[in-house]
Amino acid sequence: MKTLILNGSPRKDGDTAYLIDKLISRLYGEYKIVDCYTADIAPCIDCRCCREKLSCPIRDEMQDIYAYLLECDHVIIVSPVHYAELSSGLLKVASRFQIYSSALIFRHEALPIKAKRGAVILAQGGSGGA
Ligand SMILES: Cc1cc2nc3c(=O)[nH]c(=O)nc-3n(C[C@H](O)[C@H](O)[C@H](O)COP(=O)(O)O)c2cc1C
Repeated sequence: MKTLILNGSPRKDGDTAYLIDKLISRLYGEYKIVDCYTADIAPCIDCRCCREKLSCPIRDEMQDIYAYLLECDHVIIVSPVHYAELSSGLLKVASRFQIYSSALIFRHEALPIKAKRGAVILAQGGSGGA
């Protein structure tokens, strides 16, 4: 079993880091953690190249994630809530999943990656609102 974990917190020892520690202490198999704030991953710039083919011309660490997505079984998003959303660091990485949306929406192609189980684990503060 292989699990991709996207860490959406900018804080090294914050609440999300604590939750990830708990998670991996109970996780079977291998895992890859991507720290969205420190990874060398640029946001999608909507160049629309992925409307033509299933790839992204931006050569950065996202290419490793695309490769890992071909083989992993689970994807887990772990993020603080920032302004009632996933953090901006997490959304920056998630924007690069546009290559999959383009395949489905514009070319009506089935994705060549196996189906996965997914989970979202959120840390939030405040009064319990959004
Ligand atoms: C910019 C910013 C926006 C936030 N927005 C929300 C929010 O909309 N709702 C909420 O409940 N908490 C919000 N919080 C609180 C964080 O979600 C909370 O402190 C979280 O536990 C931090 O996790 P971390 O230590 O892993 O970064 C916000 C915090 C920051 C810094």
